[in-house]
Amino acid sequence: MLSNMEGRSVCVVSDLSIPEQLSLYRRASEIKDQIQKGEFPPNDSSKCAYLMFLEDSTRTKESFRNAAETLGFRVNIFDATHSSISKSETLNDTVRMLCGYTPSMGSVFVIRSKTEGLCRSLADSMSEYANRVGLIPPTFINAGDGRHEHPTQEFLDEFTFLEQLGNRTDEIHIALVGDLLLGRTIHSKADGLRIFNKVTVDLIAPLELQLPDQYVNKMKKNGFKLNFFGSLDEYFGQPGQVAPILYFTRLQLERMDKSLLEKESQFRSATTLRMDMLKKLPQGAKIYHPLPRHGDTPEIPFEVDKTVFNGYDEQSRNGYFVRTALMQSVAADPKKPRISEIRPAPRTLQIDEQETTNVNPMFKHLASSNPNHNEAWIEIRLPSGKPSDVRKAITKMRVLSNTDILDGSCQVVGTRGSHTIPCALTKDENWLNFFFTLFADCDAKIIYQKSPNVFVRVTAEPPEIVRGLKGLCCPNTACVSHPDMKQRDVQPVFERMNGTGYKCRYCDRESRGDMFTI
Ligand code: CP
Repeated sequence: MLSNMEGRSVCVVSDLSIPEQLSLYRRASEIKDQIQKGEFPPNDSSKCAYLMFLEDSTRTKESFRNAAETLGFRVNIFDATHSSISKSETLNDTVRMLCGYTPSMGSVFVIRSKTEGLCRSLADSMSEYANRVGLIPPTFINAGDGRHEHPTQEFLDEFTFLEQLGNRTDEIHIALVGDLLLGRTIHSKADGLRIFNKVTVDLIAPLELQLPDQYVNKMKKNGFKLNFFGSLDEYFGQPGQVAPILYFTRLQLERMDKSLLEKESQFRSATTLRMDMLKKLPQGAKIYHPLPRHGDTPEIPFEVDKTVFNGYDEQSRNGYFVRTALMQSVAADPKKPRISEIRPAPRTLQIDEQETTNVNPMFKHLASSNPNHNEAWIEIRLPSGKPSDVRKAITKMRVLSNTDILDGSCQVVGTRGSHTIPCALTKDENWLNFFFTLFADCDAKIIYQKSPNVFVRVTAEPPEIVRGLKGLCCPNTACVSHPDMKQRDVQPVFERMNGTGYKCRYCDRESRGDMFTI
């Protein structure tokens, strides 16, 4: 048992550290061996699993159900189609109520949904609820959320790759083929492949279905070497090495808009394996697929099933062993005293105020002719901002903060512009929070007149967590915090990323100025 994981929710792959992922794979290997020998007795009736599949599933649902039964857990299967969700009940309300039905057990909720970031929002709110009313905090496992992540598929994929590579983690060369845009199993690879020291990823997809920038950047930041190809024909025709691991995904038709659906047959011919391609595969190569594959137009021809290249049957079987290991590891032990997780409070806005004589002459003139202490001069330096982008940001700031900016006097100097805007300013904390969040990655400062001849410059370290500001909204319409998903009790929260920008706490969507709407 991986005791340090007890009570931990797994919403994305990186919720487990790399050493934890590797120990999960070692535990899954032991369990696979014991189960295959019939030596794994069910022994844990103090825990229960709630399977909430709000989207269809075969492999994930059935492997989790079997895993829970193998462990001896009480298994509850939530009937999503006949639940009060149809009466507009929020999932927060639904899960809070279900928690009350297993009060003395360590509960694991396994949730699949099209609502991105749902598990994280539930893990946050149920942990608060359980602590408040004295219940055992439930654990959440994301069984796939929209196009966001599918962490448990990722764990079973990596476990399977390790089996193929004789448990060596020095390097991996993998080709990812198909719908890289919308496939959550692909997105989870940006973190899951980090267990290997050296990673080369061949990304094979038509331009329209290529991997989103957010994941390309993450893979690059993680040190992966990336090669891009528009089709399998281009890939097999190139002089470079073909990867010994080919990972196919189906076209995610249910998530495509009309413009993509119109190109379905074009996409299929670019990403469907043909039998003549098998001779291009290196010795020992394996083909994988999270499945299901399309029955009418299979991404991998059925003839491959009986060849040595078939890695997908073992891959899907491994889901059972890996998920058994995961559930055993994360379910909280109800008999153990609960230690509340003490998280350091996030850094709030840190403001620095200093008197200055370096004041824009235009502002000085405005201030002296109308000595209103609420007048301020805002200076924003954008690293590569077009004047139109600056104007858009300023408009947003004016509308959302009710600031009376004298828009006409905005000065724009070149592309590395110093944009100076005199405005009437009520210097309250909410306004400053808003300003320094919106312009977090710019050299932004405010200069205001404290008394007729004294000017003060205000600068700030942006806040680590942003919540509760007017206009704050995740731009991802599938995010649990977006009004379209109708989870009215989930408020948007953004977290500062290392380096620059913010990301949504729930769906991980990276954002800069677009986290505010007007
Ligand atoms: N791979 C996978 O998630 O399959 P299901 O949709 O059948 O669960």
